[in-house]
Amino acid sequence: MSDKQTHFGYQTVNEDEKADKVAEVFHSVAQKYDIMNDVMSAGLHRVWKHFTINTARLKKGDKVLDIAGGTGDLSRGWAKRVGKEGEVWLTDINSSMLTVGRDRLLNEGLILPVAQCDAEKLPFPDNYFNLVSVAFGLRNMTHKEAALTEMYRVLKPGGTLLVLEFSKVFKPLEPVYDLYSFKLLPLMGKLIAKDADSYQYLAESIRMHPDQETLKHMMEEVGFDQVDYHNMSAGVVALHKGVKF
Ligand SMILES: C[S@@+](CC[C@H](N)C(=O)[O-])C[C@H]1O[C@@H](n2cnc3c(N)ncnc32)[C@H](O)[C@@H]1O
Repeated sequence: MSDKQTHFGYQTVNEDEKADKVAEVFHSVAQKYDIMNDVMSAGLHRVWKHFTINTARLKKGDKVLDIAGGTGDLSRGWAKRVGKEGEVWLTDINSSMLTVGRDRLLNEGLILPVAQCDAEKLPFPDNYFNLVSVAFGLRNMTHKEAALTEMYRVLKPGGTLLVLEFSKVFKPLEPVYDLYSFKLLPLMGKLIAKDADSYQYLAESIRMHPDQETLKHMMEEVGFDQVDYHNMSAGVVALHKGVKF
């Protein structure tokens, strides 16, 4: 057992425990994940994802890896962009999320390769993908540098990483955002997903996640070039982009 500590929301836990605790959250919320996303963001997560998909400069035939892809929103967007001649992998560490995602895409007539894997140990070759995406996933990973290093490794030279994640909200909005996050979110989680704790974790994990500039530096540290970010909804989320040269 590792003697290193990390955080799970506001709790301090052993590094070895975090992945299991995160797994519990997503096994618990998987069936209600999509409806909860719409309710708690008032549909805004669709706008954030739409912007992300439009930011990528993909061509027909490109290869894309969607990490922590969950119920498949970005994978669907990528598949439309790269066409039948392209390759889009929907991946996630959590079987419940992946099953919901795979079934949902199948119901829409999209047959994509699906793999259950940990972002920190990707089962893909070096220099393979034109684009790697991770939406609302990095926050949950225990060793973020290791995951970013893996994302870098599997990208082709010239390939792009897009990280869509909750970030640091603009200062004047903090009080109202805190009220929303710590009072309303767990209540909505309790009423809709029958799970207040997972949404309490969501609020806490957002506060513990590196802010815009810190994540930018982390991406640069693992080797990404031209790293930049775009705030959306007053910094509630940020889209970070980096290129592998
Ligand atoms: C909030 S969901 C995001 C799902 C989807 N990308 C979206 O934007 O709707 C976070 C996902 O990260 C996944 N995840 C957490 N840790 C992971 C890891 N180490 N490797 C891969 N996926 C992970 C969870 O299983 C979960 O499905």
